Amino acid sequence: MKTLTVNLPGRAYDIVCGRGLLDRAGELLRPVLRGDLAVIVTDSNVEPLYAARLARSLHGAGFRAAILEIPPGEQSKTPEVLAELWEQMADLGITRSDSVIALGGGVVGDLSGFAAATILRGVSFVQIPTTLLAQVDSSVGGKVAVDLEAGKNLAGAFYQPKMVLMDPDTLKTLPDREFRCGMAEVIKYGCIRDRALFDRLAEDGGRERVMAHVEEILLRCCDIKRQVVEQDEMDTGLRMLLNFGHTLGHVYERAYGYERYNHGEAVAAGMTAAAGLGTLLGVTPEGVRGEIEALLRQYGLPTSIAAGQKDYAAALTKDKKSDGGQISFVVLREIGRAETVKLEKAKLLDLIREAGL
Ligand code: NAD
Ligand code: GLY
Repeated sequence: MKTLTVNLPGRAYDIVCGRGLLDRAGELLRPVLRGDLAVIVTDSNVEPLYAARLARSLHGAGFRAAILEIPPGEQSKTPEVLAELWEQMADLGITRSDSVIALGGGVVGDLSGFAAATILRGVSFVQIPTTLLAQVDSSVGGKVAVDLEAGKNLAGAFYQPKMVLMDPDTLKTLPDREFRCGMAEVIKYGCIRDRALFDRLAEDGGRERVMAHVEEILLRCCDIKRQVVEQDEMDTGLRMLLNFGHTLGHVYERAYGYERYNHGEAVAAGMTAAAGLGTLLGVTPEGVRGEIEALLRQYGLPTSIAAGQKDYAAALTKDKKSDGGQISFVVLREIGRAETVKLEKAKLLDLIREAGL
């Protein structure tokens, strides 16, 4: 088992990672949680795979475990499902010393994290991520949210967990498409902070070889996110670097009604587009785009997605990283080094046209 500590003042927490940890969750969580009741929130795909094992481990450490199940997928990350969770937690008699445990992917983590932040004005929260995306990204850093009709993640909070506990063995049951989706975020970390990680992924070239040393990859990604979050928890500067590929990725997700492309596929195409735009801006060296495209192809991820000028204009107007007429856009100085440039939205739209995106 390996541990990283996220050092936030008064809210430090450990990320623990190791094969088989799910069965040790009770003993690992007992020292950091006060109350008796642990409410496990999970989805109906993950519940039959892992919930009973988690509950058994919690019982063994003296917790009362209750399981709340939601339907899988983004359509559950809504204010309505949040309100159902509040009612169910209240029916269970949750008190302020009890806790909520997210067991699942980013949907379960974001939704139940927001429920934990708000039920009784906040109870302890634990993340047990079971997708690659959730293990390398969404379980760390405290962003919790639900989607609104007006857009994704528009109602939420910063609410740090008491612990993130990840068992890489849970990734064995992940469908290939979900694994690929998480790989887009892993590749993103290589692009923004770690050339050696990028090269290692190119050497690995696929799921089987990645899984052979997945703990190392998970910890490297979490460590990058830890460093960024420690410096900019509230997402006002450095944390924006984590959005490399996401500005245009959101355009692609939205243009196809969030149905045709999943988040990772859209981010993959967004990263190559951002590399091309970075070159037009005179920041990203020629050739970077080609390197990223080659790596994405190795992992079966798309390198471009078609969208119209109207899609770009509409999505950029709603972008959370925009400030008046300006937008913070993440570009690469080189593979392993990212920076943010502030651009007028009109200028970005001109560049998108010039790049033929
Ligand atoms: P998800 O939670 O929908 O999980 C993907 C699918 O995998 C689901 O069908 C789920 O049931 C299934 N699944 C989960 N674990 C499994 C396992 N071990 N074996 C088999 N099936 C399994 O999606 P996701 O990609 O994990 O997360 C996407 C969400 O994360 C989005 O809502 C996004 O907005 C959010 N997100 C949040 C942050 C953050 O910082 N909070 C960062 C990135 C993404
Ligand atoms: N996934 C982006 C962030 O946590 O800031």
